[in-house]
Amino acid sequence: MTTLRQYLDSTACEEPLRDLIELIAYQAIPIREAFIENQSYAGTENVYGEEQAAMDTWADQHLIGVLGESGMVKAIASEEQEDIVLFPDAMGDYSVVMDPLDGSSLIQVNLAVGTIIGIYPGGNALKKGEELTAALYMLYGPLTVLTLTVGEGVCTFALNKEGIYVLMEKDIRMPEGKLYGTGGLKNEWPQEHMDFISLCEQLGGKIRYSGSFVADFHQILKYGGIYCYPALNGKPTGKLRLVYEANPIGFIAAQAGGAITDGRRNLLEVQPEKPDHRTPIYVGSRRMIDLVQSCMKSL
Ligand code: AHG
Ligand code: MN
Ligand code: MN
Repeated sequence: MTTLRQYLDSTACEEPLRDLIELIAYQAIPIREAFIENQSYAGTENVYGEEQAAMDTWADQHLIGVLGESGMVKAIASEEQEDIVLFPDAMGDYSVVMDPLDGSSLIQVNLAVGTIIGIYPGGNALKKGEELTAALYMLYGPLTVLTLTVGEGVCTFALNKEGIYVLMEKDIRMPEGKLYGTGGLKNEWPQEHMDFISLCEQLGGKIRYSGSFVADFHQILKYGGIYCYPALNGKPTGKLRLVYEANPIGFIAAQAGGAITDGRRNLLEVQPEKPDHRTPIYVGSRRMIDLVQSCMKSL
């Protein structure tokens, strides 16, 4: 049995980063405990005009509170906050980007949701995805599973009944599978996305889409294929967010041999213009990403 701490101690991560990753990963325990009392909607909207589930605000406040008190981070960019939260007096020299609760529309139907985190060195949270030093997500399914990369491949850990993360799988490689899932209303898809989805169907692809990016991506990581949230007619930047969703998940995908694109360029190379920068997202197995890029280039 290898615990999360033992794994981190076997990597080249510096000590403060190991401590920060552990601190964040174990917040899965209080976050899971809070689900029971935060099933409803909070009656508030976030910066995107989306109705906030009570858990969105709970997880956001909880993580900001814990990270702020820890003194380990200089900045937190959260999907639920309009502005980057700064801690200029922090001793630690990291910044965190986060989607505190991803897939929140699924809370009331008890499907899997998660928390997405990216960690950058230094106090600037608005950096390219390729500059991440670590990325992780906690998936709250039947098991609580942590998927982590510190730039040395991808590992998964499960919380055991003593509340300790135990290594499940090391050096995960994303296979060349044929699962595909796509967000957005079909009548709002641009023609190029419509064509790509037809191609997935012709290739014998199998549909998988729950409405939780973390859960849908986790399936792609294990079985291979592609997750899509396209540009939409009248909404060319789509729905998902570069800083909080695309970059941490894309960094994990790349570490597992997959890739992330907006259809034309590697999203990990895109400089975020602002915290709430949105982008179309295609993430998954290498060949599927090549395919989507060639479909979109040929137009
Ligand atoms: P969040 O709950 O953080 O706002 O993210 C929701 C995202 C993502 O998890 C999911 O893939 C997508 O929005 C679902 O959107 P649709 O309901 O439009 O499919
Ligand atoms: Mn999300
Ligand atoms: Mn969210």
